[in-house]
Amino acid sequence: MLIDGKEYRSVWFEDGKLHLINQQKLPFSFEIFVAKKIEDVAFAIREMIVRGAPAIGAAAAYGIVLAGEEIEEAIEKLRNTRPTGHDLFYALDYMRREMERGRDALNAADRYAEEIIKGCREIGKHGKDLIEDGTKILTHCNAGALATIDYGTALAPIRFAYAEGKNIFVYVDETRPRLQGRLTAWELEQEGIPYALIVDNAAGYFMEREEVDLVIVGADRIARNGDVANKIGTYEKAVVARENNIPFYVAAPISTFDPSTKTGRDIVIEDRDGVEVREGGRLLPEWVKVRNPAFDVTPRKYITGYITEEGLKKL
Ligand code: MRU
Repeated sequence: MLIDGKEYRSVWFEDGKLHLINQQKLPFSFEIFVAKKIEDVAFAIREMIVRGAPAIGAAAAYGIVLAGEEIEEAIEKLRNTRPTGHDLFYALDYMRREMERGRDALNAADRYAEEIIKGCREIGKHGKDLIEDGTKILTHCNAGALATIDYGTALAPIRFAYAEGKNIFVYVDETRPRLQGRLTAWELEQEGIPYALIVDNAAGYFMEREEVDLVIVGADRIARNGDVANKIGTYEKAVVARENNIPFYVAAPISTFDPSTKTGRDIVIEDRDGVEVREGGRLLPEWVKVRNPAFDVTPRKYITGYITEEGLKKL
């Protein structure tokens, strides 16, 4: 991704350390978090310094490189950081298999990261033709390069369509409480792609006024029946899109598909600390009781199709 005109990845390994663009600090300041040991990686995932399912998976793969001999202990530590996104578990299973085959951990993690980037590039190529000249797209949360090392999932087709010279516009949901929409806005701003950030409850307004032609979101886990866990609020967008006859696409690499989970009801939805709602912009006093589910499930029936590195899929 372009940052101040320079190409960056959100996750990379250099000089024996894992480097992560610190997503807690953006969009106010651009800082790099350096993880020297497995505990630093677990901390970065838990605290959302690195976030977005594919980026978390890649960070975890590099975490195993930092684990030295204690592979099983490290896997356990990382597995317990965040429950919903499938890529974390997929990456750890991949690293365990590679270690069992006697492969070098750094080579394996590098290969894993390259596959994710390649997958996102393919998602961009397969998805770009859904976007015509003049299309207005709505997206939720951040499924951009920050969340996936490079290109993004939902943002990859948008980047490719824009690069082809199509005149497009992106509505970016703010995404309470962690405000990942501002990360999407930051990525689009860096690349000059026209957008506007909107509050979460404005999405229906723009859809009903025929100002949205297409919705593309990312995913954290896709169950065998096609139900999609993604950032809290995704389900509502899908229902309103259906009501307004707007196609609703989910862009995700194969690492996000979880054939071992039958339906969305079987997906563990992360319940995060209420402090995120109370203190997100310091809106509420401490005594306000809060529930803070971090993801929801969009039933398969609302999904027009899945944009993957293997092409468009209809489950
Ligand atoms: O809690 P986060 O910020 O890690 O969640 C990420 C998302 O839910 C994104 O919407 C994304 O689509 C999945 S990662 C490409």
